[in-house]
Amino acid sequence: MKLIFLGPPGAGKGTHAVKVSKSLGIPHISTGDILREALAKETPVGLKAKAYMEKGELVPDSIIIQIVLDRIKQNDCKAGYLLDGFPRTIAQAEGLDKKLTKLNGIDSVIYFSVDEEVLINRITGRRLCSNCGANYHIRNLKPVKAGICDKCKSALYQRTDDNEETIRKRFSVFKEQSLPLVEYYKKKNLLKEIEASYKSIDEVNKKVLELLAYS
Ligand code: AP5
Repeated sequence: MKLIFLGPPGAGKGTHAVKVSKSLGIPHISTGDILREALAKETPVGLKAKAYMEKGELVPDSIIIQIVLDRIKQNDCKAGYLLDGFPRTIAQAEGLDKKLTKLNGIDSVIYFSVDEEVLINRITGRRLCSNCGANYHIRNLKPVKAGICDKCKSALYQRTDDNEETIRKRFSVFKEQSLPLVEYYKKKNLLKEIEASYKSIDEVNKKVLELLAYS
């Protein structure tokens, strides 16, 4: 199955992508994670992406499209994959469509719709494991011991772009450049929307699985 998770920053794309990719046995491809890894390793792509990410702007389409097309060519993607945070512009969606034939195209696009003020609360409270990447929230998904990952006992940290100013910028970039994808995928009859502002992580997860069962 080939899936896309679409939604504003903090909507829960990463949280649910981890669960769904595990239950379907398909790789979870997060362009944000790929860029952060490139940045940590100071690769040429990472260094180019740095300024855009820090300002909450989108990394240029040409860079991102190439990253994703290279990744989905790999063997583990033969049975499908889950794209989290890509595409984010119409040009990226078209770049992907050009590579996929009609027969082997995307099966479903899940759009997580969430109000702006809820997103600010979610992102400013997000904490990540510095070792395994596990995702927590200081109120909604607390680790057993504050600041420590339940799974591997490493320290948790806060992403540098998870401050209120950058989040508001990321949200406005989403409305301007990514929201047109809702219509794009609606026209292709692929879009399934979940209003996820006031539902718990478990409730949203149940809804995602229900929607995918009918894909
Ligand atoms: P990226 O890493 O993709 O960030 P994002 O889209 O801004 O999304 P987030 O990772 O912030 O949120 P999420 O939806 O995954 O939410 P999460 O599940 O963590 O991109 C970062 C940057 O990289 C971009 O700004 C851009 O510069 C660049 N980039 C990436 N892809 C690109 C592309 N295709 N083109 C160009 N540039 C690109 O949840 C958030 C928190 O809320 C967590 O703590 C979680 O526990 C909690 N939570 C989740 N759901 C619920 C719920 N239902 N109830 C309560 N709490 C919840």
